[in-house]
Amino acid sequence: MELDRVKTVGVIGAGLMGSQIAELFSKVGGYQVVMWDLKPEFVNSGLEAMENRLAKFFVEKGKMTADEAKAIRGRVKGTTNIAEAAANAEYVVEAVLENTEVKKKVFSQLDEAARPDTVLVSNTSYLNITDIASATRRPDRVAGMHFFNPVSVMRLVEVVKGTLSSQETVDLVVGMSVKLGKEPVVCKDFSYGFLANRCNRAMRNEAVQMLWERVAPPEDIDKAMKLGYNLPMGPLELGDFTGGWGIAISSEEDAIRELGPEKGRAHPLIRMMVRAGYTGGRSGKGIYAFWRDVMSRW
Ligand SMILES: NC(=O)c1ccc[n+]([C@@H]2O[C@H](COP(=O)([O-])OP(=O)(O)OC[C@H]3O[C@@H](n4cnc5c(N)ncnc54)[C@H](O)[C@@H]3O)[C@@H](O)[C@H]2O)c1
Repeated sequence: MELDRVKTVGVIGAGLMGSQIAELFSKVGGYQVVMWDLKPEFVNSGLEAMENRLAKFFVEKGKMTADEAKAIRGRVKGTTNIAEAAANAEYVVEAVLENTEVKKKVFSQLDEAARPDTVLVSNTSYLNITDIASATRRPDRVAGMHFFNPVSVMRLVEVVKGTLSSQETVDLVVGMSVKLGKEPVVCKDFSYGFLANRCNRAMRNEAVQMLWERVAPPEDIDKAMKLGYNLPMGPLELGDFTGGWGIAISSEEDAIRELGPEKGRAHPLIRMMVRAGYTGGRSGKGIYAFWRDVMSRW
């Protein structure tokens, strides 16, 4: 598939990432987008989130007119029929729950419905692309396209080459990333967590260990990383912001399989926090709150 043949893009999942990805393809790429989710209320909430973001971050800030926002929204159609989202698209981006079995089921449905030359990409954060592609009859036309949250702000896209992904597919995903105004990096999928999340895992686990040892409070651990390494956010703040603490536990099990036991172990502090409901992100309380409410009182 060549980049200029792509006219319609299917986005599978209308959650936090799917809704932002659909917006980006319409806003920057000018594509027609069909966004799917399981239930009409999930689709509607993804469309509503898109309208709100366009109003708040673009129209109200004078970065686009209300008519431009309307046109961007107008190119995105919602559906609960996965075949409809795949059948007319030349390029499909999947952004459903981070679980290999769920993704394989979705990819097998996409493979059934999509035209044979349609390229299917996954926004998975760390799952194995070759495994996901094995649910299709077109593993050469499957790759990873890993966006970062918030999608319109973060410049990186990790383009993940599965063992069977063709060079043509990788080139298409790289070209698409550039067209969408992003900076792609290409990596192979036989590591774990691609490039940024694998490095972040190591940094996050070390920061949690230091908090556990009470070397310093969370503010100072983050301050050291921000000022010492010129990062906009420290590893603990970032965990709270992304709501990644629950995922940090389940992903360690995969990390043990892929990288070996010495590299994959969810820290006991993360397990304690998550069991007590301190997961960060949408829960509104993460490691900073756990330190304040629980640990600092021990
Ligand atoms: N949140 C982030 O910061 C971030 C960043 C990069 C990549 N990702 C990846 O993007 C993907 C989506 O993450 P998200 O944060 O948008 O999650 P989300 O929970 O906001 O959305 C996930 C969507 O998957 C759908 N879903 C749930 N179970 C399903 C099933 N059994 N079959 C089909 N669909 C199902 C839900 O209806 C929901 O709309 C994941 O693979 C995640 O790892 C997330």
